[in-house]
Amino acid sequence: MKGLAVIVLAAGLGTRMRSKLVKVLHPVAGKPMLLHTLENLRELKPERVVAVLGHQAEDVRKVLPKDVDVTLQKEQLGTAHAALCGVKRLRGFTGTVMVVSGDTPLLDSETFRSVAARHKRTRSDATVLTAVMERPDGYGRIIRDGGRVARIVEEKDAGPAEKAVLEVNAGTYCFEMRALRAALREVRAENAQKEFYLTDVVEITARKGGKVSVFAAPVPSDALGINSRAELAIAEAAIRKRTNERLMSSGVTIVDPEATYIEPGVIIGRDTVIHPNNHLAGNTVIGECCVLLPGNIITDSTIKDGVLIKGHSVISCACIDESAAIGPFAHLRPGSRIESHAKAGNFVEIKKSLIGAGSKVSHLSYIGDSLVGRDVNIGAGTITCNYDGYEKHTTVIEDGVFIGSDTQLVAPVRVGRGALVAAGTTVTRDVPADAIAISRVPQSNGVNGAKKFRNLRGARKNKG
Ligand code: UD1
Ligand code: CA
Repeated sequence: MKGLAVIVLAAGLGTRMRSKLVKVLHPVAGKPMLLHTLENLRELKPERVVAVLGHQAEDVRKVLPKDVDVTLQKEQLGTAHAALCGVKRLRGFTGTVMVVSGDTPLLDSETFRSVAARHKRTRSDATVLTAVMERPDGYGRIIRDGGRVARIVEEKDAGPAEKAVLEVNAGTYCFEMRALRAALREVRAENAQKEFYLTDVVEITARKGGKVSVFAAPVPSDALGINSRAELAIAEAAIRKRTNERLMSSGVTIVDPEATYIEPGVIIGRDTVIHPNNHLAGNTVIGECCVLLPGNIITDSTIKDGVLIKGHSVISCACIDESAAIGPFAHLRPGSRIESHAKAGNFVEIKKSLIGAGSKVSHLSYIGDSLVGRDVNIGAGTITCNYDGYEKHTTVIEDGVFIGSDTQLVAPVRVGRGALVAAGTTVTRDVPADAIAISRVPQSNGVNGAKKFRNLRGARKNKG
């Protein structure tokens, strides 16, 4: 939008959060709440964006997109003072300034766009985003005089009649730069909180004969300002609901949307079924016709069509190809790739390894830093010993190999195509193709040995 600059107020600590972490960095749906606002504002293509930072400014700066300009408010003297810091940073700018709070992550780009459009169309000096709330507690109330907005009164300064007003200030405004500059000069900290209130700019502008308009948020609950942990949870639930509804309308079955936690960036194909208590995060992409049974935690992973995840599995930075089956209770760690029709079953941990098409690691195994070919069978309790205390080493298991149960593969080691490793073997040397490897102490059976042992123990027990 030409002639538009944005100031985002994000300097406050957020005392009511009772947290060591600055409020705007508290995550909502997997990312700092401030980023929701900045990303939504970006869609308006403003000429400039300035974030006003104060508490933990360095940490906040680290998460900001590069094109966001930053200015410091050293002391938090109130929202008007914060806005003034932003205005100073915008020296030379003469158009419309949108001022937005860093703690209202539910306001979407459509709403921001509407405020700016209303401001422009009505040629106003100030336009306030308002919301009519059933419970307006904590918000500034819009006080009208003959229908026109006269001022905004903060909860702490409001009398009983003012407190009864349900129309509140959502903390997003458009101002003509000229009017804002002039009004900011007149703001005084003469109020219950001894702060410089940005809301006073509205009264000052109106008093000077400037034009003040409002735009009412179409979904009033989107105006939620997060001041407490309880409000943080409400915002989280609201974004979760939006995400789940969008996915369901695109053809995903979510068995219990209130108990399904999907971050907004996750992509899911049609006819995939998600059972309760799945947590899908980051840049995860899931194909069509997959089934996710309850309780998985999946982060930054790619899952192709027709995959079955049997539940209670943890999958991070992994790739699972068509029709593979995972879990229950599997742990796929970064760099794991399970090819099509392969299986990683119960209590199996896989790290930085390729499991080739059709191969099976069904029970109780650890496969790390390994290349496993196609149609390999890995028996229960197989361990790749990939770490010697200093370095990680690779295990290669070629196509068609059969690894018996309770095998240790001491890396670096290679098992050739079609070889067989007998159960209980400790593989310390390469196994040639089609060979059989076995390392066991030969078994001896003592005739009646068990009986003799019992008699001996029994006699002792009776004595004792
Ligand atoms: C503010 C409004 C209130 C409105 C509500 C909407 C004022 C005086 N009140 O109240 O009318 O209904 O938002 O959510 O503006 N900040 C700074 N520097 C400061 C103070 C605040 O950068 O010195 C930032 C905070 O980090 C926050 C935002 O401004 O992101 C709003 O401040 P907050 O203290 O949450 O204001 P509210 O009491 O919620
Ligand atoms: Ca607030």
